[in-house]
Amino acid sequence: MCGITGYIGTNDAKEILLKGLEKLEYRGYDSAGIAAFNQDGIHIFKEKGRIADLRAVVDGNVNAQTGIGQTRWATHGAPSKINAHPHQSASGRFTLVHNGVIENESELKAKYLQDVTFISETDTEVIVQLVEKFSKKMETEEAFLKTLRLLNGSYAIAMLDAETPGTIFAAKNKSPLLIGVGEDFHVVASDAMAMIQMTDQFIELMDKEIVIVKKDRADIYNLNGEVIIREPYRAELDVTDIEKGTYPHYMLKEIDEQPLVIRKIIQAYQDGSGSLRIDDEIISAMLGADRIYIVACGTSSHAGLVGKQLIEKLADIPVEVHLASEFGYNMPLLCEKPLFIFISQSGETADSRSVLVKVKELGYRALTITNVPGSTLSREADYTLLLHAGPEIAVASTKAYTAQVAVLAILAFVTGRAKGLSLDLDLVKELGIIANAMETLCGAKEEFEQIATEYLPAAINCFFIGRSIDYFVGLEGALKLKEISYIQAEGFAGGELKHGTIALIEKGTPVIALATQAVVNGSIRANVKEVAARGAHTCIISMKGLDAEEDRFILPAVHELLTPLVSVIPLQLIAYYAALHRGCDVDKPRNLAKSVTVE
Ligand code: G6P
Repeated sequence: MCGITGYIGTNDAKEILLKGLEKLEYRGYDSAGIAAFNQDGIHIFKEKGRIADLRAVVDGNVNAQTGIGQTRWATHGAPSKINAHPHQSASGRFTLVHNGVIENESELKAKYLQDVTFISETDTEVIVQLVEKFSKKMETEEAFLKTLRLLNGSYAIAMLDAETPGTIFAAKNKSPLLIGVGEDFHVVASDAMAMIQMTDQFIELMDKEIVIVKKDRADIYNLNGEVIIREPYRAELDVTDIEKGTYPHYMLKEIDEQPLVIRKIIQAYQDGSGSLRIDDEIISAMLGADRIYIVACGTSSHAGLVGKQLIEKLADIPVEVHLASEFGYNMPLLCEKPLFIFISQSGETADSRSVLVKVKELGYRALTITNVPGSTLSREADYTLLLHAGPEIAVASTKAYTAQVAVLAILAFVTGRAKGLSLDLDLVKELGIIANAMETLCGAKEEFEQIATEYLPAAINCFFIGRSIDYFVGLEGALKLKEISYIQAEGFAGGELKHGTIALIEKGTPVIALATQAVVNGSIRANVKEVAARGAHTCIISMKGLDAEEDRFILPAVHELLTPLVSVIPLQLIAYYAALHRGCDVDKPRNLAKSVTVE
């Protein structure tokens, strides 16, 4: 959600900024803009829509070695050219891009800016106008610091001052921002991915820090103006990881990467003797907890539901799963020794982060399971487990979900083993079987394309049903379908249908049922019959050994606790093809953002 780029060096900034913004497209946005700063002044180009629309309005004759850019996902004010960043101060001296939300915008306007006419509806404009107001009595750096000290909320900022050429003023609080270091240039980016083509050396910024960025130096200060010394780290990103290669969409590439991700996870969590291992500190935190609270959003919360089953069954510790956006404002009565597990692909989701802040204030321990090392949720929790899934760029999460389930399985297993429970499970072997089964499924794409063609071409809705762990996978299947094809889709517990939802079933309503669990195989099939009798167009996806004649697809057999790792793949692929057939923008669905950095 929103992305920032900045460049200061010896090359033409425009192309570097635009290419960087393209790499940030995955985060979700609805307008974009850049500012290029040269001897003639600051030139602003912005447009509603995609980067391609912005490219069309950028004047190729403007050659500038300094610039900033932003992709905006509308929060304050509609997506429009006027609300697109960069924003300028009243005199045009200061130009600024901002990610995040300024919560005290109205108070600041009322107190300091009553005489200023605002051009946009954004909360961002207040920042740039404040800097201009204060700069009348002090140096730009002081005015910038003074402004930042007044802001409540989240921000990542890059700013140009027409009277200070050769400088980008940057700052961060709660929203991510990195400074990339090159031979004779520096870059500013929300994510290393945006600038990995330029450099792999990045300096991390902490909350409430500012940086004065020049071509050959970057000086970091805290909001008291004290100097902070921080060395760059090497971003371990492979440029090919963020390219689509021969794939038409990132989503398809990422679905196909799942077997490899599972194999990487097995390796990453094995010790020298091949046994699964997790840091002792994390395992003792697990063993010391009398209840675990999993907190997450979206797909990650669906992985959390599967994780609950895994932890309860393999480690014998009670688990509750909560949506971060609900938990923060309606906290349940906590047990005596809770451990919190935050699951977040991006590690930046604001809803989850706000719960983490509360949990830390209460003095409890937290573990983050994330794909992004160094992300906010990782840095702020006591412990981190990484997903090793490689960058996930499609908005609809696929490989991160299976990676989350696999890492939760390893966590549950290692905890159970440390507890001395006798576990009749060779998890390394079973995950190996899973990786092979995933490969088989990824090789059967035509089957899933056929299902999408048969069941969903004109569907206005679709239900996913299952019982036990299959119900949780159904929730994820429904989320995938609605996110990218815009078909109204819901996941239901099979047995619950008759308590209301069955009223929605009419002739032709698509109902996709999962049947991978022996204990509920009979009952879910009875539920399928109930909806079929009322005209539903039913599609059963079962598992070898539990299959029946009427099944539409039979998954390879895997361990019954790990079935989500394979049963989700047909649902991902069905969603993909349904969206493709409808001409939807698979990787960048409307209204959605990959990394949701506002609450
Ligand atoms: C957004 C994305 C979802 C994702 C959710 C949680 O809403 O569109 O795909 O599941 O955020 O993201 P996280 O990075 O915390 O896993």
